[in-house]
Amino acid sequence: MKKPLQYDRVNKIFNEGSKHAVHALRDVSFAINAGELFCLLGPSGCGKTTILRCTAGLESLTSGHILYGDQDITSIPPYRRNIGMVFQSFALYPHMNVFENVAYGLRVRKLDDKEVKRKVNQIIELVGLADVLKRNPSPTALSGGQQQRVAIARALVYDPDVLLLDEPLANLDAKLRRYMRAEIRRIQKATNITTIFVTHDQEEAMAVGDRLAVLRDGIVEQIGTSNELYHNPCNAFVANFIGKMNFFYAQILACDSHWVKATLYDGTLLSIPRKNYREPIHPIRGDRILIAARPEHLSISTEASSSPSIAGQVSIIQHLGHIVRYEVDVAAEFSDQPLEIDMDSLVESVREKDNIRIVFDQQKIAVYGSDGSR
Ligand SMILES: Nc1ncnc2c1ncn2[C@@H]1O[C@H](COP(=O)(O)OP(=O)(O)OP(=O)(O)O)[C@@H](O)[C@H]1O
Ligand SMILES: [Mg+2]
Repeated sequence: MKKPLQYDRVNKIFNEGSKHAVHALRDVSFAINAGELFCLLGPSGCGKTTILRCTAGLESLTSGHILYGDQDITSIPPYRRNIGMVFQSFALYPHMNVFENVAYGLRVRKLDDKEVKRKVNQIIELVGLADVLKRNPSPTALSGGQQQRVAIARALVYDPDVLLLDEPLANLDAKLRRYMRAEIRRIQKATNITTIFVTHDQEEAMAVGDRLAVLRDGIVEQIGTSNELYHNPCNAFVANFIGKMNFFYAQILACDSHWVKATLYDGTLLSIPRKNYREPIHPIRGDRILIAARPEHLSISTEASSSPSIAGQVSIIQHLGHIVRYEVDVAAEFSDQPLEIDMDSLVESVREKDNIRIVFDQQKIAVYGSDGSR
């Protein structure tokens, strides 16, 4: 019976009291459902590995609690927590063959040979290595993807309550990563083990996780499904981290309970639904705000449009199969980055270097009070 995991105001300060103190986790509180595949996502150094190490008992907490079901596991030593972990560098034992690598956790637990054989075969089958096991080579004779599967099998074989995966796909090439992330999801769903999957790749997190948490500087910025985080990011940091987002500045002209009216540098007026104002600050006339638009919420036009638009010059046109992506340069007062605009199909008459209009989908674009920096 799998149980939920809960983090209650967890703080971790490395080297506390010294001038080298690092406050790696700051009041981290969230819960992971039983059987859930939960992703931790965030830039390097934000505290992802630290959360896993605290969960496994490899680091003690400075304050706060971690619960597995009703049980407070904060002070339980690592060997008494039934947790499987695949580390960031998933070191396999090079002197042991594949079978013994996977069997290791069972040997430590002193299971008899027959039981070891049964469990190893079962888990090897699950991770898709049955053919490799017939040869039973040393891990050095395996491809990256096969080594990865051995590392996962090794963590799963003793039926852990919780599985912790720290950037398990980091050493694989892009194509294999995409394949293996689907495999990890398949394996996790087959075993139903409460799992935390750490990555700094947002596409991977969105593809793999039932839900994800975005971390920054030891703080949980937002938790939700991929869909929630993509369509309703709570601040500009999350908006920028999850998927591509175009940002540009505007100035508030008026605001009521239905609309935020804002002007762009060239006087263009935008009327944005008030519900798209993401931060709970009351906007005041003259405030500088940040407008955020996904590539699919902008479009390219060669003619005057009834919707508001601004001038731009196409720099690059990329055919990406299902969409065409236009990179468009705009006035520096508007944005110092080129905008990315996705169209369902090629706009026939438009070539690179052409001057065009960028049209806003006012119902979809969002407004943030600040750029999300702290
Ligand atoms: N043992 C330690 N002693 C001192 N500081 C540490 C220790 N372990 C981690 N830190 C610091 O804590 C912060 C969080 O580190 P952590 O390894 O959790 O980051 P991460 O999110 O896993 O990053 P990455 O994506 O690079 O793996 C970093 O500033 C790191 O330097
Ligand atoms: Mg890490």
